[in-house]
Amino acid sequence: MKNNSNQLKAEIERLKKIITSHDFAYYADDNPTITDSEYDRIFLQLKKIEESNPDLVTIDSPTQRIGSTPVKGFKEVAHNVPMLSLDNVFDEDQLKKRFSSKIIDPLKKLQISQNIEETPFIAEPKLDGAAVSLFYKKGILEFAATRGDGKTGENITHNIKTISSVPLRIRGSIIPDEIEVRGEVFMPKLDFLKYNKNAEELGLRTLVNPRNGAAGSLRQLNPKITATRPLDAYFYSVVRAKGVKLPKTNSDLLDFIRNLGFKVSPESELVYGLKGCISYYSRINKIRETINYEIDGVVYKLDDLNIQKILGYNKTAPNWAVAHKLPPQEETSVVNNIEFQIGRTGQVTPVARIVPVYVGGVTISNVTLHNEDELHRKDVRIGDTVIVSRAGDVIPQITKVVLEKRKKISSKVDIPEKCPICDSKIIRDQGKRVSRCIGGFSCLAQKKESIRHFSSRSAMDIDGLGVKIIDQLVSNEIVENLSDLYSIDKVQLSSLDLMGDKSAENLLISIEKSKQTTFSRFLFSLGIREVGEITATTLASNFKSIDDLKKTNIDKLELCDDIGPIVARNIKEFFNKKENIQTIRKLLDSGISWKDEKNNNEDSIFKSKNVVITGSFNKITRSDLKDKLISLGAKVKSSVSEKTDIVIVGTNPGEKFNRAKSLNLALFDESELFKRLSQELDITLE
Ligand code: IVH
Repeated sequence: MKNNSNQLKAEIERLKKIITSHDFAYYADDNPTITDSEYDRIFLQLKKIEESNPDLVTIDSPTQRIGSTPVKGFKEVAHNVPMLSLDNVFDEDQLKKRFSSKIIDPLKKLQISQNIEETPFIAEPKLDGAAVSLFYKKGILEFAATRGDGKTGENITHNIKTISSVPLRIRGSIIPDEIEVRGEVFMPKLDFLKYNKNAEELGLRTLVNPRNGAAGSLRQLNPKITATRPLDAYFYSVVRAKGVKLPKTNSDLLDFIRNLGFKVSPESELVYGLKGCISYYSRINKIRETINYEIDGVVYKLDDLNIQKILGYNKTAPNWAVAHKLPPQEETSVVNNIEFQIGRTGQVTPVARIVPVYVGGVTISNVTLHNEDELHRKDVRIGDTVIVSRAGDVIPQITKVVLEKRKKISSKVDIPEKCPICDSKIIRDQGKRVSRCIGGFSCLAQKKESIRHFSSRSAMDIDGLGVKIIDQLVSNEIVENLSDLYSIDKVQLSSLDLMGDKSAENLLISIEKSKQTTFSRFLFSLGIREVGEITATTLASNFKSIDDLKKTNIDKLELCDDIGPIVARNIKEFFNKKENIQTIRKLLDSGISWKDEKNNNEDSIFKSKNVVITGSFNKITRSDLKDKLISLGAKVKSSVSEKTDIVIVGTNPGEKFNRAKSLNLALFDESELFKRLSQELDITLE
C-alpha cells in the first residue's frame, strides 16, 4: 500500500514537473514545446490521479491554480520590507538634478567616485498595473500580497495563482529557502480590448482601462472570476532571500529572477550615464504604442546593488532609482460647454468643449460624446471636472466624471429638439442610437460637410479645398449645390478671405483635375448613407453606370458582396430622389468622367482581401496605390486587426507595422508589392 502511494506521489511529481516546465515555456518564454492537445492530455492525467487521491494534492499543483471556493475576505499582510514608491521626474533637466543631488553628490561625500556618464543603470519600463509581492518558501508560493498602503497589503494568493505565467513553484536547481520577489501585474492591451469586446457582446460589464482591469481582478474574492481575466506579470526585484547568494548587480538580478521562472520585461536594458538613460527614454517613448502593456514612464535604477544599499531610501522612495514619466495619456479637465455638431447626413453628435489639456502627446480641446445614449450614460454636464484619456490612434474620450467635484446647480444635457444650424426638427433613427437633423442639403452644416466629403482625398480629391474655403463658399452662396464647384471662377475665389491669386489658380487647377476620376470614387463622393469606399467599389464593379444603378432593385443590390438590406435600401432611396439625380446629371454635364475600371480581378491575390497600407513608397503615391488595390478587388482598410490579410509596408511605417508583426500578418514591402502588382496590372518596374 505504502509502496503504491509512493509510486503515485512520484507519478504526480513527474506530471507536475512536465506541466510546470511547459507552462514556463509557453507563458514565460513564449516558446511552447508541446502541442496544446498533448498538454491537455497530461493535465487531465494529473487531474484524474489527484481526484482519486485528494490527500496527495499539493498547493503547488498546476490543477490548483483556480481555487474552487471564494475567499471570505482579504486577510492583511504586513510587508516585511515596505513597498515604497518612486520619485518622479518629468524632463531631462529634473532628471539631471535628481541624479546630482541624490546619487553623485552623496557618493562624492562618501568618497566613492562616480563618473555620471559612465555609471551603469538598469532602465525599465514603468508598468502601469498593480504592484505585487510574492513570497516563496522552499520554492513554493506561500503568499502573494498587494501593495496596500506600503506597510500592509492584502493577501491575494488565490488570485495570483490564476495567472498562468506566475510560477507556483520556482524552477531551476538552486531553490532558495525563502525568497520574496516584487513586480507588477498587468493586463496586456490587446487582451484588454478582446476581453471588453467579448464582454460587450455578452452584455457583461466592461473594464475601464487595463490598469483598473488588473487591479480590480486582483481584488476579487472569487478566483474563478480572476481566472477569466487575461492577466500577466513582470518582476523586477528581490527584497529578501535566504539560502541563496544574490547577484551583485541589478541587471544580473533580473537574469537570476528570470532563471527562477519569473517573467521580466523584455524591454529592460543596461544603459550608461545620463545620456544612456535619455536615449532609452526616447526609444521607449517612440515604441510606447507598440508595447503590449500600458506604461506611464521609465525607471532608472543604479545597477550596482551595493551602491544601492549605500544610497538607501528617503521616506517614500529609494534614492538610487527614479521614474522618468512619459507624457500622460490621461488628464483632468473641465467641460466648458457641450455643443451639437451636425454631420454630412444630418447626424447629431454631442461634443464636449473642454479646457485644453495635453494628453498622449497632443493637446485636446474637443471630445466627442458620440450619441444620445452615450451622453446619458456618461452624464457629462457643463462645468463638470472630467478625466480625459487618449492612447495612440484612439480618439480622445472622457473616461469619467469626477462626481465629487460636480457643482450643485448642474443640470443634465439633452439632444436638442431642433437643429442648432437650420432649426429643422431632430429625430432619432428608429431602433438606432443616431439622432438626425432632417434639414438635408438645405441645412448649411450638412451642405458644408457634404462638400468636404465630396472633395476629400478618397473621393474627388480636390487639393486645396479646405474647410475654411468651403465655409465661405457656402456662406457667400457661391456654392449651393455640389455641381456649383465646377463653375466657380477666379474672380469669385479671389474675393474670399485668405485666398491669394496663386492659391485661387491652384485650386481651379485641382478642381479641373478632379474631373478625371474613377466610377467608385464618384459613387463614394456622393455621400450615400453608409456607402463607404469599399461599398462604392463593390457598386462600381457590379454596375456599369449611374443608369444601371438607377434601374436596379433592392434584391439585386443585396446580391453584391457586403451589401446588406439596410445599405441596399439607402442606395435605392438615394437614386429614387429626383434632386440627387439632378445633382448627378449636373456633375456629369460639368465634365466629370471615368474610364472603365478593370474588372478582371477574379484571379488577383488581392481579391476580397483586407489590405492595410503603412508608410510611403518610391514608385507610387499612397492614394494611387489604394486605387490600384481597390481595382484588384482589395478592401483597403485604415487599421490593422486580426481580420487584416495583407499589410503593405513602405518606408517610415507607422504603428500599424508593429501591430501587423505582433499579429503575424502577411507583410509586403515595396519590391514584393510591385512584383505582385506587375503580375496583375500593366505596371513595369523602371
Ligand atoms: S521599482 C522601492 N520598477 O511603480 C520601489 N517599480 O511608483 C521600487 N513600478 O509601486 C519599485 N514598474 O508598482 C519599479 N520597473 C519598475 C516598475 C515599478 C512599475 C511601480 C511599482 C511601484 C511604483 C512606484
